[in-house]
Amino acid sequence: MFGERLSALIASKRPAQSPEVDPSTLSNYFNFKVDTPSDLRFDVNFDKKVVTGSVTYNLEVVNETSQVVLDSSFLDITFVKVDGTSVTSFKVLPRSEPLGSAIEIELPSKVSPGAKLTLEVGSSTTDKCTALQFIDKEATDGKKAPYLFSQCQAIHARSLFACFDTPAFKSPYTMQVTSPYPSLMSGRPTGTEGNLYKFNQPIPIPAYLVAIASGDITSAPIGPRSHVYCEPQNINACQHEFEHDMESFLQTAEKLIFPYEWDQYDALVLPASFPYGGMENPNVTFATPTLISGDRANVDVLAHELAHSWSGNLVTNCSWEHFWLNEGWTVYLERRIQGAIHGEPTRHFSAIVGWSDLEHSIKAMGDGATRYSTLVQNLKDGSDPDDAFSTVPYEKGFNLLFHIEQVVGGKEVFDAFIPHYFNTFKYKSLDTYQFLDTLYAFFAKQKEQLDTIDWESWLYKPGMPPITPKFDTSLADQCYGLADKWYNAVKSNASFNETFSANDIVDFNSNQSVVFLDTLVSLNKREDFKWSENQDALKAMSEIYKSYSESQNAEVLFRWFVVQVTGQNTVYYDQLGEWLGTVGRMKFVRPGYVLLNKVDHERAITYFRKFESSYHPICKAMVKKDLGL
Ligand code: BES
Ligand code: ZN
Repeated sequence: MFGERLSALIASKRPAQSPEVDPSTLSNYFNFKVDTPSDLRFDVNFDKKVVTGSVTYNLEVVNETSQVVLDSSFLDITFVKVDGTSVTSFKVLPRSEPLGSAIEIELPSKVSPGAKLTLEVGSSTTDKCTALQFIDKEATDGKKAPYLFSQCQAIHARSLFACFDTPAFKSPYTMQVTSPYPSLMSGRPTGTEGNLYKFNQPIPIPAYLVAIASGDITSAPIGPRSHVYCEPQNINACQHEFEHDMESFLQTAEKLIFPYEWDQYDALVLPASFPYGGMENPNVTFATPTLISGDRANVDVLAHELAHSWSGNLVTNCSWEHFWLNEGWTVYLERRIQGAIHGEPTRHFSAIVGWSDLEHSIKAMGDGATRYSTLVQNLKDGSDPDDAFSTVPYEKGFNLLFHIEQVVGGKEVFDAFIPHYFNTFKYKSLDTYQFLDTLYAFFAKQKEQLDTIDWESWLYKPGMPPITPKFDTSLADQCYGLADKWYNAVKSNASFNETFSANDIVDFNSNQSVVFLDTLVSLNKREDFKWSENQDALKAMSEIYKSYSESQNAEVLFRWFVVQVTGQNTVYYDQLGEWLGTVGRMKFVRPGYVLLNKVDHERAITYFRKFESSYHPICKAMVKKDLGL
């Protein structure tokens, strides 16, 4: 079916069976499946900072076995029942980093394909569990109640409950939580009785999409099928930020793919320490409060998380080695949504921003690029998917799909493939090889064009993609132009105050400011230019564009710090340091400390020590690695 080169390549890489086995789970998930809902129950104890819970799986055996092996990580296992009877023949094996401790449960007898069994496992979290962050009430915005939230992707669900913690194993769920405060889980709310909050998730989901949050949470509508949730004092700002775009994103996505299957789409805006921009927990996206900038400039993050309702949540990567299938597709859909609403130049502009992010992030990897900048990852040595996380699956993945779109004849031709792909794999998990099978089968007539794609480089070679795409630069040209003007002014010793003014940037939207600032940083790549050797220019710029220092938009403010701090304008070292205490999103926190560390090691450590207790456990661990602590 494929051309010769691709066939040979796939024959050499493709495992005997698709989807490929997930190397990031210790469980024997491949021996079982579930069709009837599993039941998940949690109880939140804010005093002890512990979540006790139980999961009940109605398993059907698909391969003969005498054991069930589940994932766990720093959990206390309180009981195990098989078909309603307590079993004591289970072992929690010693930890193997970073995957955790397998729970081996011996079954009373060997079970054969087709056999059914009910497995119930009780557990209690400990303070080492990486899925949870408890926040004291003094550290919340409203200071009225403590707060709890989870973040399970990639492999942290196992530190919330005993599970088959692999994106390859899906189950529908009934869920409930008891808590003294309003609570949300990743399903449709089905009722509250006193302290008990109930949810239903009829669509099969992997463990990493299980989520819980509890605290002083209220809600407001942001569309006919959408609400925003947050602490009460932020509700109006959150509603204003999202209500304009939510339903139009939904309708645009539905036109591009097919109707939204999850019923309701809500968003929860979390406390500052939430470590990501957004997390696509089904029915209720979790989001960073840095989105709330007052100017709706960050709503693209909601378009992204919404797009995951199809790419990721219906159609799922079978392991984190194929993570690009989740994120590359999602970035592709997110940009198609933006393009449909604001026009193609906006889609291309966003792709330009992404391309420059990709260049920066591959460069920042240094030697790590050999292993971390390939599209398909290799995690078979048991390495941590959090370590492999980068812009690469997002932007290389997007660019591969964009390239395919061009090669088959443009977006109108590619459009027909979108619903086909999502219908073919919905409720399933797949690997890259299945994606290629489906692509080639669908575009059988365009086989020759598809064969022009250098698949080996795209999928397995490190570094930038083998093709530099031609994006429409109309929106970016002004940004490039202004950056060039700075370069020329420096080179010709022009007077900065006469050449530049605050007006230069007033008409830029946030994304244009991002591109302008990124381009300024890129000037450092020119042989004959370093901002650090042109401090007078940098200082003049700092005065002329001082509005950047007050930007409410974290994407803009962060890049402003990057320009000034890479140029060693010391005035900004403490501003960056202090700012790192106000954001928890790893996208900013990690490179922020790395940057500060490069110019002033002592100061970076001092700030990290000052703020580390407020960071999410995953974030704290990653920054420690980054700083070599
Ligand atoms: N699913 C991701 C977040 C994630 C990835 C969490 C891997 C844990 C492990 C989410 O959809 C995402 O990509 N968020 C981005 C925002 C986006 C607009 C690119 C983020 O957090 O920056
Ligand atoms: Zn995503």
